[in-house]
Amino acid sequence: MSIQTIMVVGAGQMGSGIAQVAASAGRTVLWHDLSTQLLDTGVTSIRQQLERRVIKGKLTEVEKAEILSRILPAPVIDEAVQVDLVIEAISENMAWKTALFQKLDGICAPHVILATNTSSLPITEIAAATTRPSQVIGMHFMNPVPVMPLIEIIRGLETSQVVFDAIFQLSQELGKTPVEVQDFPGFVSNRILMPMINEAVFTVYEGVATVDAVDTVMKLGMNHPMGPLELADLIGLDTCLSIMEILHEGFKDSKYRPCPLLRKYVKAGRLGRKSGQGFYTYS
Ligand code: CAA
Repeated sequence: MSIQTIMVVGAGQMGSGIAQVAASAGRTVLWHDLSTQLLDTGVTSIRQQLERRVIKGKLTEVEKAEILSRILPAPVIDEAVQVDLVIEAISENMAWKTALFQKLDGICAPHVILATNTSSLPITEIAAATTRPSQVIGMHFMNPVPVMPLIEIIRGLETSQVVFDAIFQLSQELGKTPVEVQDFPGFVSNRILMPMINEAVFTVYEGVATVDAVDTVMKLGMNHPMGPLELADLIGLDTCLSIMEILHEGFKDSKYRPCPLLRKYVKAGRLGRKSGQGFYTYS
């Protein structure tokens, strides 16, 4: 199964990274979002990323232009009719995702694979909203997508082997390392990462150490490239909270209870880098 044309749905930071990586690997990308303004901002940000690579001598002007020419904003989702694969990267809201998958199921030809970049919602439940659960799969990219080499490939209960193999191979062709994971809350990445971030928030909440001290301990003591609170700001505090809630709900285990301070920041609109303030302030 050759996957050459991909629709990416969602023009947030994950959708933007996925569009960039797919176009850089020679794929034609139809990029859809309900907001044309977000799509325009996304294209501008990809252009800037590629320009930085040109300045560093890692990309030629011609290659940059070719990559950009393969990214086609698609304000109308019905253009999904012409693709081989759709990768959904919208907000982590089950009702929105199932509504989108139902819509795509009605638009796309029967052979089209529907992938979700969800970071923790059940693939099996998203798949059940369609008439093609064997062709629905999780394709969980890491942030920042152009830099991080991992993709978690999550099998829903009904995902077919043919679809799994096609997505595994595509991930390698995108220059990433795919890892097979079963469909349980948080998969592997967030089941391990988010409790660490949540615990870091608890250490600040309980006055054990300052934000800076917690991050310094983890960077210098554990050789993490970023401290957990700095990383939480990069991921988005709303996303971190939503994943903790999914783990808490999914396992019914109090060890996954979200820290009240995380909840408070999200309620205040301190969402991390994207809102200009989280545990740190961004200009
Ligand atoms: N987008 C694109 N490229 C970026 C980037 C971004 N946002 N940030 C950095 N880069 C690139 C730089 O351009 C640079 O590229 P070159 O090597 O080609 O020059 C390279 O990454 C290294 O960048 P820097 O030297 O500026 O900075 P760094 O060495 O500190 O690395 C980092 C930055 C890669 C983000 C590093 O700090 C890191 O690995 N942090 C941890 C990230 C992480 O854990 N991500 C997973 C989050 S969890 C998740 O995504 C799952 C989920 O569901 C929540």
